[in-house]
Amino acid sequence: MLRLNCRNADSAIIGEENGLNLSIEFENYKDRISDIIKNLNQRKDKPGQWLQWMNLGYNEETVWYVKEFASMVKGRFDNILVLGIGGSALGGIAVTEALLKPYWNLLTPEQRNGFPRIFFLDNIDPDSINSLLQILDLKRTLVNVITKSGSTAETMSQYMIIKNILEKELGDDYRKNIVATTDKKMGVLRQLADQEGYKMFFVPDDVGGRFSVFSAVGLVPFALVGLDIDQLMNGIKDMDLALKNTDIHQNIAAQGALIQYLMDTQKGKNISVLMPYSSRLKYVSDWFVQLWAESLGKEYNRNGEKINAGQTPLKAVGATDQHSQIQLYNEGPNNKIITFVRVKNFDTTLEIPKILEYTGIGYLGGKTINALINAEADATRVTLADNSRPTMTITIERIDEYNIAQLLYMLEVQTAIAGELYNIDTFNQPGVEQAKNYTYALMGRAGYEESANTLQEKMATV
Ligand code: PA5
Repeated sequence: MLRLNCRNADSAIIGEENGLNLSIEFENYKDRISDIIKNLNQRKDKPGQWLQWMNLGYNEETVWYVKEFASMVKGRFDNILVLGIGGSALGGIAVTEALLKPYWNLLTPEQRNGFPRIFFLDNIDPDSINSLLQILDLKRTLVNVITKSGSTAETMSQYMIIKNILEKELGDDYRKNIVATTDKKMGVLRQLADQEGYKMFFVPDDVGGRFSVFSAVGLVPFALVGLDIDQLMNGIKDMDLALKNTDIHQNIAAQGALIQYLMDTQKGKNISVLMPYSSRLKYVSDWFVQLWAESLGKEYNRNGEKINAGQTPLKAVGATDQHSQIQLYNEGPNNKIITFVRVKNFDTTLEIPKILEYTGIGYLGGKTINALINAEADATRVTLADNSRPTMTITIERIDEYNIAQLLYMLEVQTAIAGELYNIDTFNQPGVEQAKNYTYALMGRAGYEESANTLQEKMATV
């Protein structure tokens, strides 16, 4: 099981000005937290609550269909190309970067056990798209276009470009190279997929993009590159069970949520950093940044009061960012809480040879890189505590399907509980929708003519 150590957020360690008296706060909030957990679990099956992500670990039917599809297409494609953005891409990137062998796309097919390479196009930079299109043989590429709304301009413009090329290269057969993941009932992609006869998977109702990693949004690409999605499900289920515990002392998501919330609202820590000590977990931070930012960054609370809630999430990776950000964290404004993720057992061990013994680096010889990275994590944590900077540490046993699912699901539940503490709607994103609509207006989408005119005026003054 995942472990959370929050000692270094306690006033006993870092002082009262910056730390929380955790035993008192856990006592003060124990009933509220218990109510929140009960309430989330009671509401999760109700339509319109956007809590269906809490049921994804139990979605055996989808798992079955995804596995069947993956085994049907195995060996037919050299590449998987995922088109998607935001919640339709970040989870996929985080999990594949964590779980596939590092440098996966550079390995030989034998080293990949016959599974394809995987690429995510999650931006609309013309240079990178053109460059990728030169690298990929699209005839040997399975394109998974993922958009819940079915109309996101970034994703659908990529789809149009790629469908056009595929059709030219493959004639009518191009349809076999496209699989769509979208809403069951609505959206342009749903209609197109019907007309074209694409293989389709659905994002379940009441699962928002940033909570969709364990729906078909993530599961399809994961299965296509050979990840063990049964183990992902087991990780979620076990974590879900643990996080149903209404006692804050036994519930790490509740502890994390309460500490972040109180640090923000009482101690001025309005920046939350996620810093795994592992390159493979680097993109978990990107995923978390979206989850925390879009879920908690809200103008109004549920009573309609203007509160402009939300910590600014920052991503960092250890040990690399010790040489970039830690100076600021130790000596700059004391406005951050840092969550480290520490990997207990890496997949491999790397020994530093006992050479150069009589030089200033001789002490490293005979030790392992594994010991070095965790020593650096500990040293940084203690230094930050010396400087009265709050931190928490999540320890993950090893980086595998079971443990990664636990980590991501725990962070999702932590976000949902934090949203309840702020008393906001965690699952909407009015600030994102507004910019999407402006883009439609600028690009001449029918129905947006009026906003296009006002927009042109506003842009002229910027
Ligand atoms: O979390 C969210 O809801 C967003 O980040 C969406 O995932 C993102 O805007 C992409 O939307 P869609 O899946 O509809 O293309």
